[in-house]
Amino acid sequence: MALPNQVRIWEAGPRDGLQNEPGSVPTEVKVELIERLADCGLRFIEATSFVSPRWVPQMADNADVMARLERRPGVAYQVLVPNLKGLEGAIAAGADHVGIFAAASESFSRRNINCSIAESLERFRPVAEAALARGIKVRGFVSCVAGCPFEGEIAPRAVAEVTGALLAMGCSDVGLGDTIGVGTPRKVQAMISACLDVAPAERLGVHFHDTYGQALANILAALELGIGICDSSVAGLGGCPYAPGATGNVATEDVVYMLDGMGIETGIDLARLVRTAWWISERLGREPVSRVARAMRNRVA
Ligand code: HMG
Ligand code: MG
Repeated sequence: MALPNQVRIWEAGPRDGLQNEPGSVPTEVKVELIERLADCGLRFIEATSFVSPRWVPQMADNADVMARLERRPGVAYQVLVPNLKGLEGAIAAGADHVGIFAAASESFSRRNINCSIAESLERFRPVAEAALARGIKVRGFVSCVAGCPFEGEIAPRAVAEVTGALLAMGCSDVGLGDTIGVGTPRKVQAMISACLDVAPAERLGVHFHDTYGQALANILAALELGIGICDSSVAGLGGCPYAPGATGNVATEDVVYMLDGMGIETGIDLARLVRTAWWISERLGREPVSRVARAMRNRVA
């Protein structure tokens, strides 16, 4: 299969990245990060989540972030919602894209959203319906597609089932989440192949955490199967508070460097993105984990 000519990058840093910060990140830093990312050419940005502030206090300023954000035309600002209450918050905040998130592992589903997979799908159906009825786009996520921190191996069939259920609800596409970054290319291709039995490649994306340093290889493996949607976090920020040991998403600048080198279009200004990676990392008091950000630091200073 020919590789895609262009890849849509969903920037997850402001949500997936900052939801896992131990300290509190000021709202104005979050807002400035999102605006800087839009300046880099990112057109799909996950801004925050409307989840329970008891479960994820880092996202408690969700409404404030959305209110203060100067939204650019042509940029999608997605928020994650776990239930109807979250959707109400998202609607009040004027979100035009929401993400709903299920898992391929029962144990992870319980820990992350306090219900079984089947219950979560029942819970998400009216959320998707209500969102779509208002013209809000809905994206799905499936966690633990390449392994679970509690159950270990996850069958590709289990991933495909949940993916099919989310797409049947009207999700534009489903981000296949390697939540703990354990996947390797052949395993990832087997999982994606199972999903391709229930969905065309255009409706599948990859959302890989880079815990074991496999994410770029796994993204390439996904591109080989025709996948053209990829989630990543600037500076490699992130992790899931309910996935022990998981580190951040693959760094956006690492993905863009690879795709630029392969002649695959993303519309993103890499030098500016690297400056943004350093900017947010300095605000968080550390260096970016991204190899590209570190290698390019002097060249873009
Ligand atoms: P629960 O405790 O079972 O919820 O949590 P509940 O319905 O029983 O409600 C309990 C209280 O929470 C009530 O308040 C509700 O009003 C409130 P009280 O009456 O006690 O004062 N509540 C809410 N408040 C604000 N916003 C809401 C909301 N819902 C209920 N939306 C729940 C269930 C799903 C709410 C909880 O488990 C939760 O919020 N979980 C979210 C966890 C999370 O955000 N995880 C990280 C994101 S997922 C991820 O990172 C993976 C991904 O990146 C893909 C990958 O990498 O694999 C997407
Ligand atoms: Mg994630």
